[in-house]
Amino acid sequence: MNRPFWGKNVLITAGATREKLDPVRYFTNHSTGKMGFAVAEVAKRAGANVTLITSTRERLVPPGVNAVYVGSAEEMYAAVKENQAKQDAFVMTAAVADYTPQFVSEQKIKKQPGDFKIEMKRTKDILADIGETKTANQVVVGFAAETENIRENALKKLASKKADFIVANDITDAGAGFGTDTNIVTIYGANGSEESFPLLDKSEVAKEIVKRITSRLEQK
Ligand code: CTP
Repeated sequence: MNRPFWGKNVLITAGATREKLDPVRYFTNHSTGKMGFAVAEVAKRAGANVTLITSTRERLVPPGVNAVYVGSAEEMYAAVKENQAKQDAFVMTAAVADYTPQFVSEQKIKKQPGDFKIEMKRTKDILADIGETKTANQVVVGFAAETENIRENALKKLASKKADFIVANDITDAGAGFGTDTNIVTIYGANGSEESFPLLDKSEVAKEIVKRITSRLEQK
């Protein structure tokens, strides 16, 4: 049997990040990690060694997948960098915070009269960093969660983050986006390919992603 994904090393990021403000509060988003966990399962079944870097502890890790739990965007970045060198492919499904509080209070912030303003600073863009530093043999897949101008934004991300593929979805579509079992995606390739899929189960989307990584690895 021809098993082209057998023994490949794949790193996947999944879920939301948590950006702490004080011991009781944090910033996060609606990502549940479903898409990333589905990719992990499909990649593992195809025979890959899978490292899943995630903040999602509520979801069962597929058997044989190596889970690395993180909290913040900074921790996710550090875990990805630590595991970067040996990978054949990266699939960045995580909804990483773009901003994190400038200052984290060690004590609970007590309410005061009047409004409260929080200064936020930018986090590192993990996908862009990996796109920039990848070797010629590594394949990089990113996601684009959009609410408007999907194609234009996805193509911008494909170029600016130097990904081999961007999987774009309109999170306002029924059956797509956060927490659903299904997704409606278009996969844009750095070679100019553009493939739109109907409503699919996230495991089917995961199979399409793994298929494209496999053929891209064969070309490298
Ligand atoms: N991503 C990342 N690190 C970040 C932000 C995003 O690795 N700090 C990755 C995501 O995992 C995803 C891709 O970049 O694969 C696009 O994420 P998305 O949230 O759609 O876009 P942003 O990069 O945040 O850009 P914008 O704010 O313009 O939508």
